[in-house]
Amino acid sequence: MKNIKLQDYFSSRTSAAPADYLLILAAFLLILAGTAKLHAQKFEGLAPTPPMGWNSWNTFGTDIHEQLVRDIADAFVELGLRDAGYRYIVLDDGWMLRERDGNGNLVPDPEKFPSGMKALADYVHERGLKFGLYNCAGDKTCAGYAGSRGHEYQDALQYASWGVDYLKYDWCSTEKLNAEEAYKTMRDALHAAGRPVVFSICEWGDNDPWLWGKNVGHMWRTSGDIINCFDCQLDHGTYSSWGFMKIAHMRKGIRIYAGPDHWNDLDMMEVGNGMSQAEDRSHFALWSMMASPLIMGNDLRIVSDETLEILTSEEIIAVNQDPLGIQGFMFMDEQGVEIWVKPLGGGDWAVCFLNRNDVTFRLKWDWNYHPLEDSFAARRLDTGRRTFCIRDLYNKENLGTTGEVLEAEIQAHDVLMLRLSAQ
Ligand code: GLA
Repeated sequence: MKNIKLQDYFSSRTSAAPADYLLILAAFLLILAGTAKLHAQKFEGLAPTPPMGWNSWNTFGTDIHEQLVRDIADAFVELGLRDAGYRYIVLDDGWMLRERDGNGNLVPDPEKFPSGMKALADYVHERGLKFGLYNCAGDKTCAGYAGSRGHEYQDALQYASWGVDYLKYDWCSTEKLNAEEAYKTMRDALHAAGRPVVFSICEWGDNDPWLWGKNVGHMWRTSGDIINCFDCQLDHGTYSSWGFMKIAHMRKGIRIYAGPDHWNDLDMMEVGNGMSQAEDRSHFALWSMMASPLIMGNDLRIVSDETLEILTSEEIIAVNQDPLGIQGFMFMDEQGVEIWVKPLGGGDWAVCFLNRNDVTFRLKWDWNYHPLEDSFAARRLDTGRRTFCIRDLYNKENLGTTGEVLEAEIQAHDVLMLRLSAQ
């Protein structure tokens, strides 16, 4: 083949032929597209604190319908969940038909959602809440319904036209797809559609989303699916479901990747789904200490007073929603009691003692003997130099100061959840 140098090519021609103009135009368009891609981004600032809401999956699976959503929206208002900070109502897998229509559009199941998604989103919005949907980066969702692969931009436009505010995006049927690229495609599609959407990455931590998720979504799952038990693992053959303690301990060291607008998502909660009250308290406390999104997964139409009390514990939620957005960590593990700490705004700290033992634990804790330290946040709680007031957040009572040895009884699988405030 003849090797022509560029300058020879241009110098050998005196004026540009129509084909050259086309070439120049194509190059220009390519550069433009490249620049647009460089500037593609997620919607910034939608999740300055971990998103709070409800998702249908843990309790209902694909057995979902429009009256359920309306009932949940009403429950948010009537039970004080909206006032406690919960905003998003998210329909998980199974809202669409298994096949797209003739134009390639997703079709909400007409039997489950006869009024359509726009009407449902309107109902949710009228109550001051936000509406979310689920889909999947693969051809099929995990339950076998129509996935988004190859239809990302079309689906994003459809979500925008319905008024969707939140998209949970799963990872089934994704053979040969690159996770980061697939999630970026959907991010760009949502951005191009123009309606701000919280983008929830759900690839179970398989492709280290904490390393690339910050500029892609607002939160990313860190594990396979949760199940309603304290510390179990349910083996399904090719994958497992996990008790909340397993999820809390599964990924070491990823707290440094979380922060405002990009959170480690420990999965939808199982509070109110059959564990003991002590376990539900521990579950909610850990999700708060770890700055995970607080997405309820129980049936709010039949919620008990005890469960509601946990889910609306104002002072625990304040730990989760702390504006610094620092994910807490396990500071010590001794005699089956885990001590979790989380630096908070204003120089405060949250400290959570979690009793993993099957019997009550009698705690004696000398603050001066265990100076709390978080090198990531560059914070140290030096109780020798400064005294802090102690507040028991679940029992809503003051427990003296860090100047005294703390003594308390913690039931099996329960927590003592504290806030230390500088005097
Ligand atoms: C995956 C997700 C779950 C749920 C189901 C739906 O397992 O991790 O949270 O969305 O799919 O099929």
